[in-house]
Amino acid sequence: MDTKPLPDRDAPAQASAGADGPPMGSAGYPALRMRRNRRAPWSRRLVRETRLGPADFIWPIFILEGKGRTEPVASMPGVERLSIDRAVRAAGEAAALGIPAIAIFPYTDPALRTADAREAFNPDNLVCRAVRAIKADVPEIGIICDVALDPYTSHGHDGLLSESGEVLNDETVAVLTRQALVQAEAGCDVIAPSDMMDGRVGAIRAALEAAGHAHTQIMAYSAKYASAFYGPFRDAVGSRAMLKGDKRSYQMDPGNTDEALREAALDLAEGADMIMVKPGLPYLDILRRLKARFAVPTFAYQVSGEYAMVMAAAEAGWLDRDSIILETLVAFKRAGADGILTYFAPHAARLLKGRGEA
Ligand code: PBG
Repeated sequence: MDTKPLPDRDAPAQASAGADGPPMGSAGYPALRMRRNRRAPWSRRLVRETRLGPADFIWPIFILEGKGRTEPVASMPGVERLSIDRAVRAAGEAAALGIPAIAIFPYTDPALRTADAREAFNPDNLVCRAVRAIKADVPEIGIICDVALDPYTSHGHDGLLSESGEVLNDETVAVLTRQALVQAEAGCDVIAPSDMMDGRVGAIRAALEAAGHAHTQIMAYSAKYASAFYGPFRDAVGSRAMLKGDKRSYQMDPGNTDEALREAALDLAEGADMIMVKPGLPYLDILRRLKARFAVPTFAYQVSGEYAMVMAAAEAGWLDRDSIILETLVAFKRAGADGILTYFAPHAARLLKGRGEA
């Protein structure tokens, strides 16, 4: 456990309470009845420590070629791949709901997936065209672009492979840098490297500076675990079927937490403006430790498998969908997240508006 307190929360708690007892001067029950504050809805609202609003959400969307096209993602009921014109419309809806940013992920035409992932740095690739179209139509929304090669490789890995099948680090970083540059050139606001290669944040930062993109932000997937929760995402971008082997030589081991601190420290030293933890709910301890340690903008990604679990249980009638969505989202904030990447973003924003919370 971290001994360092969260900067904003622990100070008042220490001022008014003994180390592990009730507030000083209280005689305890019956003078103190914890249920008093919980009795009325207005009082529960008044004493609530953590609030959710649409400004807490980043909405990840999947895009595909074509016009007027949508395609359902079978393992993510309710999520669709959108052609660029539909993505522009979706971005407009998100902005109107008060969602500050979207994150774009491409379903690349299988014919364009190669061993060298060259489509990743084609300035006219699907992502770059989508960024330009959304920027032109919905300039007020922030656009986050993933940097990793898995939507572009013929083998589904985030990096280039050696002859023996090893994921190459430095050669991959060179390609990721080119990918980041075409995205920034297209107008992307935030570059989000999700590949977990060593040194990529520094290389991308230096290249952005040199190319005149000093204001382009970097949100580093700092603590990204080798997780089975990404399965439905790989369906959505079409990389699941082609993935050979696993990603454990670059994504983190789920048993580790100190390693997450080292990863985040490196990314911040290399110029990351924001950090992220992924997956979300099973890794709230990591989120808490990173926020406590670094006190920088820290995000959590409620990933595709988490989305699928909620939707499957809701469809079976085993869980109440909307309650579960809001409960999971507030848990991220309570644990220290400044924001959450979630496929539920527009739905959650509407729910909050409907409840008079936003
Ligand atoms: C690409 C990437 C992945 C996700 C985000 N960026 C998949 C992976 O690393 O295999 C997962 C997101 C999700 O599951 O919702 N590197």
